[in-house]
Amino acid sequence: MTNSKLQYNRNAFYYLKDGKVIACNTLSQEYYELEEDYFRRLLTASNNNSHPLPNDNINKELLEGGLLLEDKSEPSISWEGDPISFFCHQGTRILSQYTPKLSDEEVCSDFISLSSSSAKEIPARYIPEYSERIPLQEPNLDYFNDSSLYNAAKNRKTCRNFENKSVKIDLLNSLLYFCFGPIHGKLWEDFEQYNIPSYGLRRSSPSATGLQGCDAYLVALNVEGLEKGIYYYSSDEHYLYRLKNTLDDESLIYTTNDQFWAKNLSAGIFIVNDMRRTWVKDKKARGYLAAYLEAGHISQTILLAATALKLQTWLTGTFRDDVVDNLLQIKGSPCFASVFVGLGYGDNGSIPKKFIETIR
Ligand SMILES: Cc1cc2nc3c(=O)[nH]c(=O)nc-3n(C[C@H](O)[C@H](O)[C@H](O)COP(=O)(O)O)c2cc1C
Repeated sequence: MTNSKLQYNRNAFYYLKDGKVIACNTLSQEYYELEEDYFRRLLTASNNNSHPLPNDNINKELLEGGLLLEDKSEPSISWEGDPISFFCHQGTRILSQYTPKLSDEEVCSDFISLSSSSAKEIPARYIPEYSERIPLQEPNLDYFNDSSLYNAAKNRKTCRNFENKSVKIDLLNSLLYFCFGPIHGKLWEDFEQYNIPSYGLRRSSPSATGLQGCDAYLVALNVEGLEKGIYYYSSDEHYLYRLKNTLDDESLIYTTNDQFWAKNLSAGIFIVNDMRRTWVKDKKARGYLAAYLEAGHISQTILLAATALKLQTWLTGTFRDDVVDNLLQIKGSPCFASVFVGLGYGDNGSIPKKFIETIR
């Protein structure tokens, strides 16, 4: 007997591990170890010109695992991105068919067990090798009262023409504390009030896990009161840790994929995600996606806060990741940079002058 109505599941991808083919159905997020016969059957199913598939046990099991689908199954979405982006997208979806509805009581008990079980596992902040610890002065949060939210949002623009002008450490110190420091205090008040163990941290931006998985690495290029270099900002202590590496305009431009408009920035902040803080609560692809979202929220807070300080800003999510890893001394760690926010003084023009000259 044959079955011509089966098609292979386009939402599944395959990889090799310990001499075996592993199939991952990105939608159900289930993994299967495939014997060769099973993998061959899928190869045949993927070939449009192949003969109808035999109706045997292999088909039955592949159907049960969702790697083969009945013809009447939902069509695959049309996707213009490349295959990697397709599997990333599918792998980050949460579908109702795989998430049974929970009662309020079940939701509460999940919440409590997740918050208390994560307590023991919260990793200490990752601090790269450093040469010096530098205490910072008290931040001046009054600076942020000088501008309305409306003005900060209206004046925030991407600037791509910076002037060689220094920024005062006092401004950066206040900016770092405002965006990464515990501005609400170190205790989470309502958790304390109800005696619920609290392992989270509050900052001026929300955090996907509540554990604040992002850290700031300050790049000082032209800062009054601070030597040129790269500094890890310890938000708990309000200290800078000077890394062994340093950088200048030219290396920053190379790092950011030849975006020459990074020239003349006074400073910048790399937002670095520590995946260990995400993994405490979520090891799946959606957690990875949320780590990027978390960095995105912080970057917007930095942009608005820096604008309130009358700084001009430029942000990029494009850089040579391996170069950044080396520069920030996070290579081989579970940390990665997701966003760079450049800070300085310029003409607030969004088109680099060189572009305009080239067009002329
Ligand atoms: C996630 C993200 C990544 C970005 N990456 C770059 C980049 O690599 N290079 C760049 O020059 N601008 C980058 N930008 C800035 C955008 O080009 C800019 O925000 C957009 O043109 C709108 O202009 P505006 O910021 O002045 O409103 C990025 C913005 C975001 C939100």
